[in-house]
Amino acid sequence: MSELLRVRRLTRTFGDLVAVDKLSFVVPPGEIWGFIGPNGAGKTTTMRILATLDVPDKGNAWVGGVSIQEDPATVRRRIGFMSDQFAPYANLTVHEYLDFFARASGLRGKQRADTIRQVAGFCHLEEFARRPADGLSKGMGQRLHLAKTLLHDPDLLILDEPASGLDPRARIEFRELIRALADAGKAVFISSHILAELSETCDGVVVIERGKLVVSGSIAEVAQHAGHRPRVHVELAGAVEPAARWFLGRPECGDLAEHDTSVTFDFDGDKTALAELLGQATAAGLRIAEFRTLEADLEQIFMRTTSGRLH
Ligand SMILES: Nc1ncnc2c1ncn2[C@@H]1O[C@H](COP(=O)(O)OP(=O)(O)OP(=O)(O)O)[C@@H](O)[C@H]1O
Ligand SMILES: [Mg+2]
Repeated sequence: MSELLRVRRLTRTFGDLVAVDKLSFVVPPGEIWGFIGPNGAGKTTTMRILATLDVPDKGNAWVGGVSIQEDPATVRRRIGFMSDQFAPYANLTVHEYLDFFARASGLRGKQRADTIRQVAGFCHLEEFARRPADGLSKGMGQRLHLAKTLLHDPDLLILDEPASGLDPRARIEFRELIRALADAGKAVFISSHILAELSETCDGVVVIERGKLVVSGSIAEVAQHAGHRPRVHVELAGAVEPAARWFLGRPECGDLAEHDTSVTFDFDGDKTALAELLGQATAAGLRIAEFRTLEADLEQIFMRTTSGRLH
């Protein structure tokens, strides 16, 4: 796997507390990866180190092969960090706020004006350009915070709980922005407690607990690690009851649920076995309108892989 971010045996202690404990994982370029763990697991501490705002006691991390400890200035140009606190300066409009950070990241003249316009447009902030930056709603504030993070065109975005406190619409809009960023080739490393939201958005996850890695990998890899069997959804054009009975009679189908026009069940087997099951079901006369495996449910994976202890 090609990698954009590599974390190796990263460790950070606060007195006796080991907040991050020999943490290792990699994140590939151009994908969205979730960073999951209960309160106090060490997510913010890890992200702050990756953003070069704090230093580890031991271990190291590399962004595009550049060490966060040996060359933090280069790392800073390649990453955009959105902390869990948005604290805009008083007496600045949205435009002035972006202009300030665009200047700080070295953008000049037309390039600065163009970049601000582009980033504000992407985050749907144009209409709010003259509003005071410290008087925005939570959702708009988060969009401004993201816009600021994008000004220097980073390859890797590190977002610490960006959707917390947003209403459902703002959440969906924010998720769409993140998806658009990944489509534009940026890697996104995002922490959140809203697991359902991450499972729809993420290509992979890193799960930690008490500073230690529990599991990391693509959603499919992690689901497999957690012993998650694929769940199959079968939509029927005919009667549900005989179909349910037929699938229940198959040893590889378990935990079957009957719905109005469909059945779902856990399937113990690989793709070939699944194809055979479909062939046999059709041959047995079941009228199947749709047959698909459901995405692994991150919430279940999380509950199975972490024990829920808090620091
Ligand atoms: N500056 C600090 N001084 C002392 N302890 C700290 C400091 N920063 C973090 N900690 C401790 O390190 C542990 C990890 O905290 P961290 O903020 O990284 O967790 P988190 O996973 O981001 O949690 P949350 O989901 O609540 O945001 C916690 O026990 C916290 O109290
Ligand atoms: Mg945190």
